[in-house]
Amino acid sequence: MDVIAYGGDYNPEQWPGQVWPEAVRLMRAAGVNLVTVGVFAWAQLEPAEGVYDFGWLDRIIELLHDGGIRVDLATPTAAPPPWFLHRHAEAHAVTRDGVRLGGGARQSFCPSAPAYATASARIADAIGQRYGAHPAVALWHVNNEYGNGVDVCYCDTCAAAFRSWLELRYGDLATLNGAWGTAFWSQRYGDWAEITPPRAAPTFINPSQQLDYARFANDAHLANFRRERDILRRWAPSIPITTNFMLANCKSIDCWRWAAEVDVVSNNHYLQAERPDNQIELAMCADLTRSLAGGAPWLLMEHSTSAVNWQPRNIAKRPGELARNSAAHLARGADALMFFQWRASRFGAEKFHSAMLPQGGTDTRVWREVTELGAVLAGLDDLVGSRVHADIGVVWDWEAWWAVELDAHPSTDLRYRDRVEAYYERLWRAHHTVDFVHPEGDLARYRLVVVPSLYLTTAAAAKNLTGFVVGGGTLVVSYFSGIVDANDSVHPGPYPGALRDVLGLRIEEFLPLRAGQSVGVDGGWRADVWTEELHLTGAEAIWRYQDGPAAGHPAVTRNRHGAGTAWYVSTRLDPAGLDAVLARAGVDAGLDAPSSLDGQAAGDGRLPDGIELVRRVGARGSFAIVINHADQPATVPLCGTELLTGARCEQTLTVPAGAVRIV
Ligand code: GLA
Ligand code: ZN
Repeated sequence: MDVIAYGGDYNPEQWPGQVWPEAVRLMRAAGVNLVTVGVFAWAQLEPAEGVYDFGWLDRIIELLHDGGIRVDLATPTAAPPPWFLHRHAEAHAVTRDGVRLGGGARQSFCPSAPAYATASARIADAIGQRYGAHPAVALWHVNNEYGNGVDVCYCDTCAAAFRSWLELRYGDLATLNGAWGTAFWSQRYGDWAEITPPRAAPTFINPSQQLDYARFANDAHLANFRRERDILRRWAPSIPITTNFMLANCKSIDCWRWAAEVDVVSNNHYLQAERPDNQIELAMCADLTRSLAGGAPWLLMEHSTSAVNWQPRNIAKRPGELARNSAAHLARGADALMFFQWRASRFGAEKFHSAMLPQGGTDTRVWREVTELGAVLAGLDDLVGSRVHADIGVVWDWEAWWAVELDAHPSTDLRYRDRVEAYYERLWRAHHTVDFVHPEGDLARYRLVVVPSLYLTTAAAAKNLTGFVVGGGTLVVSYFSGIVDANDSVHPGPYPGALRDVLGLRIEEFLPLRAGQSVGVDGGWRADVWTEELHLTGAEAIWRYQDGPAAGHPAVTRNRHGAGTAWYVSTRLDPAGLDAVLARAGVDAGLDAPSSLDGQAAGDGRLPDGIELVRRVGARGSFAIVINHADQPATVPLCGTELLTGARCEQTLTVPAGAVRIV
């Protein structure tokens, strides 16, 4: 589309046909130009096995088309209908504890079930055939949030599929036994049939086996996606295909691998409503989405106009928050802003979930904000296709996430997202725009690369990170990184085996702290959770531990290596400590302090706290999207033209409290 897409999930099947024309009229009034249809409509489209009812979908697609609204047409395969679940007991997913999951919800299927493969392929084929040539269809939306509901299934079908997957990966049992370290605890396998999923067991299950099961489960979902994608592609080779990710909030799906399989990356994001500063987590997810898309524009497939229904306390958005959230996604590269959902359901588990059209109808604050946003977006065509530039890359890896949170580790307080978010937050507050990058991805475009938590570091990743430093880059590595290989075996020699050389140090012993314990670090910083006994083999100690089990040993180090520099942070430093590390590493990297960019700023160009400023650059201009999250007006050094009003700002732009401006 050559406009910013705007709309949401639309479930006409929940409403009588008489209200459909009104829905389309209201969509137009709100500026909606794209709706996602059919996501959970399998039982309506195929009421009995092999019996189809497309009449209602034909009518609604025609109505939308007449109204000039494009359709993101979904395959309904995230919600197999009751006839399927009734007929195929074996296709129900099974939990780790052996509980076969029931119906009456959604997403109740085993990803490896042959019956599911057959039935989902059949309905995808019928939809592709019927609508593949319809001019209203702008996009295919396969399934919905793979990995939500059933992320991993432990049934017998999956067990057999896992064994086939392992045979492909390892070829023979000797190789598997070596990779899994089955010399430990009498786990040696003499026959493939002896291998089971990591089901509930008396004690720790082989971590390599757990890791491979996570990989297998990801691949099982991916096989389902590919099957439907390929069917749709045959019917309509030119319609792009997506599936909506949950990215950073879905541990089980390795989106780096999936991103290569979709035509356009789309993501669902919901605020962690109770969290203070949840706009930072939002920004992080948006940056990760853009990075998965390789910098290309992406689609925000779902977010909410106000409260959701599934958090412990579903906090409603306050006036202006919807616009700020939307602007942040837009700023970070989204070319579509879509909501779940168009109209609030009157029944079912999501009746208290917000929508573009709330239960209260059009005389509501949410509706007014939705229509205002639609009107604003209609004036932003020039942004379509523009891109975001970042000098800083933050390493993100699902496999490392799976591995670091396995059991039997030195501390239960090690959490993957904890360090990623901690570093991201400090960079956000310092107004830096960052990309995320796979540990084996291209780092050449960055000056500074941050590795917040990379317990699992493959040899290829180590080579990549080391090469970046040798070539002149600046690396910041957080603790418990570079420890194991892809099989979860410790890299040979002292920790951190994979990163020992580039960091110029070795770790003699991990010294995790007690719950609630903290230690002092030179510079006046405090730290908790984790310390280490470090010995330097080339690095210099920047700050040392003042007390605690590592007292006197280096806490933060810096190593000149090749033409670059590698920093190591061996503890969970407080925010001020992280700021200090990042500032000094930024100097090594030759990073300018973030300003309003382009050298056009007045004064020192510094941005006030609470201001989020991201620039998108494209064929039709350079666009600064400025969001004021504070409850005071803020003045930003900026020159340019305000896109919506045409007003010039020569030196500064004042953004009212809670407001958004595009210059
Ligand atoms: C997910 C799903 C939607 C809906 C929303 C509610 O993102 O994809 O169908 O359930 O959550 O927030
Ligand atoms: Zn299964």
